[in-house]
Amino acid sequence: MAILDVYEAVTSRRAVRGFIDRPVPREVLERVLSAAAWAPSGSNLQPWRAYVVTGGPLAELKKRAGERVAAGDAWDEREYEMYPPSLKSPYYERRSAFGEERYGALGIPRGDWEARQRAAAGNWQAFGAPAALFCYIDRDMGRPQWADLGMFLQTVMLLLRAEGLNSCPQMAWSVFRKTVAEVVSPPEGLILFCGMSIGFEDVTVDYIRTGRAPLDETVTFVDG
Ligand SMILES: Cc1cc2nc3c(=O)[nH]c(=O)nc-3n(C[C@H](O)[C@H](O)[C@H](O)COP(=O)(O)O)c2cc1C
Repeated sequence: MAILDVYEAVTSRRAVRGFIDRPVPREVLERVLSAAAWAPSGSNLQPWRAYVVTGGPLAELKKRAGERVAAGDAWDEREYEMYPPSLKSPYYERRSAFGEERYGALGIPRGDWEARQRAAAGNWQAFGAPAALFCYIDRDMGRPQWADLGMFLQTVMLLLRAEGLNSCPQMAWSVFRKTVAEVVSPPEGLILFCGMSIGFEDVTVDYIRTGRAPLDETVTFVDG
């Protein structure tokens, strides 16, 4: 485990979409998740319910998901909307820019939906990662608790950096939630928010670092 400056952990984290098959030791995952449990949550509800899947069960999940993709299977009906039905400015432009960065790095031209779909299918192979985390939340929970999940997940991702590991949070798993449930058997009443691929980065996979809006677009200082 490296002692990583918090700024370095934050800026070196990115959504990594290519992993090598080097396994992630169980004790490392336990260390990360034990520390991430210190993430804050309203009234300390700790509403996250995480399942960590590796080895045979993850291979089985990838196999089943791959079969669904190959069969052109319909996605599972949504339990939550990933985005508003029509994204207004500036979100629409930011999403377009992201699409250009993500698929441009792979040499996929704008409008080649088939190639984009093929690249997106990597989601359901956990981008080759040897470990995946699935984060559920109780169906009764409201927006503040969903925000708590975000804090927990970001804490996990930053701690993974301290272990030399990378990650990719993935809402994409929510449309294959029934396949995930076959493997992790969650109790009734939980909603799958997202998955997260975890592993050592495959540095041969091309990517373009995503940008961020200038600070004055997202932050206002009110200081007289
Ligand atoms: C909640 C959440 C869900 C995401 N779902 C996916 C996903 O399904 N597939 C994917 O490739 N990336 C996914 N991402 C990664 C985002 O595309 C990425 O975080 C964003 O473009 C910023 O890039 P960066 O993380 O590399 O800085 C998700 C990120 C978040 C926070």
